[in-house]
Amino acid sequence: SSTAPEIHKGLAGVVADTTAISKVNPETNSLLYRGYPVQELAAECSFEQVAWLLWHGELPSDEQLDTLQETERANRALSDDVRDLVDRTPTTAHPMDVLRTAVSLVGAQDPSAGDASPDADLAKSVRLLAQLPAVVAYDQRRRRGEDLVPPDEDLDYAENFLRMTFGEVPDPVVVDAFRVSLILYAEHSFNASTFTARVITSTMADLYSAVVGAIGALKGPLHGGANEAVMHVFDEIGSAENAEPWLERALAEKRKIMGFGHRVYKKGDSRVPTMRAALERLVEHYGRPDVLDLYTRLETAMGERKNIKPNLDYPSGPAYHLMGFDTATFTPLFVASRVTGWTAHVMEQAADNSLIRPLSEYDGPDERHL
Ligand code: SDX
Repeated sequence: SSTAPEIHKGLAGVVADTTAISKVNPETNSLLYRGYPVQELAAECSFEQVAWLLWHGELPSDEQLDTLQETERANRALSDDVRDLVDRTPTTAHPMDVLRTAVSLVGAQDPSAGDASPDADLAKSVRLLAQLPAVVAYDQRRRRGEDLVPPDEDLDYAENFLRMTFGEVPDPVVVDAFRVSLILYAEHSFNASTFTARVITSTMADLYSAVVGAIGALKGPLHGGANEAVMHVFDEIGSAENAEPWLERALAEKRKIMGFGHRVYKKGDSRVPTMRAALERLVEHYGRPDVLDLYTRLETAMGERKNIKPNLDYPSGPAYHLMGFDTATFTPLFVASRVTGWTAHVMEQAADNSLIRPLSEYDGPDERHL
């Protein structure tokens, strides 16, 4: 018989296409968004500037930024139907399921949903960027018995997101750490949720369908759901001195330690130092050295026991916790940021499309007859 073809389980190591949007380099442990190192963007730019860069390939001019801010700020309010849909979704549902459901309605309400022109897709991308914070913030507030906080058009994206969630703009240290997390989460080449969005786009389905599918993929704890799972690990461990015994037990049970490891990075995640520095500023601001103690104890133990390094979800979890977000809100925050990367990939896939349809090697029963 012919030699069996090589199976690439999990598509590990498979280069499926080219992309001009970002470069993940495990050799140099670096990440570029349209050529710019993500550390520089996190230090110098607003999230709105990075969104424009991902969509258009260049940083916005002042007037382009004004246009983006005007449109984004004009689309921040939750419509009555979407608010009503959130209200009618039980609080026993996971916030990722509420978000996925709300995005479906936002898409269904858009008369241009089926218009796949670049301009229409760009407009949908800005609309989703503007709408996601409203859904995420309102869902957390209703679970706490708090009223909706309407958007404030005088605030930038990060400040408005925090004000809609907590009722006020927090200290600049907190706003800055949140802005850094949004920039670091925005884009990461062909990760599972982005590739999902590209597969959906490759059939010529609409951008909203691609984003709903991507939210589904991101939810899993092996992917975006890990930032929430890291917080559950911290809650399980409690204080720093329990880190080693907890890890011994967890590894003995063959558990994956959330927030550690990566399919591409093998010498550590390029984004972690920047997010860890933001976490340290939050620890200082809130006077919570205990959080950093636990963070470093578990990281050290994982390095010694498994030689596996943290990924971006590891510092992001405790950072979002210190900012005051509910643990189940952490992955929806990831969605609000990654929607920029997803939609950039949707537009790139649509611009030079080819249906994504891999092969499979059949290993079921030989042909047989009734
Ligand atoms: C994100 O792709 C992206 O870019 C994703 C992302 C993005 O920006 O989009 O970076 C965001 O999703 C980050 C990853 C978040 N996930 C987690 O933190 C969940 C825990 N991590 C693991 O499940 C794992 O590291 C993966 C899934 C992230 C990657 O796993 P791989 O590449 O499939 O590697 P593997 O599971 O085959 O692991 C290789 C070995 C195995 O040991 P052996 O079975 O060979 O003995 O390392 C072990 C694994 O058991 N291992 C772990 C581990 N990660 C790898 N063991 C314990 N805990 C872990 N976290």
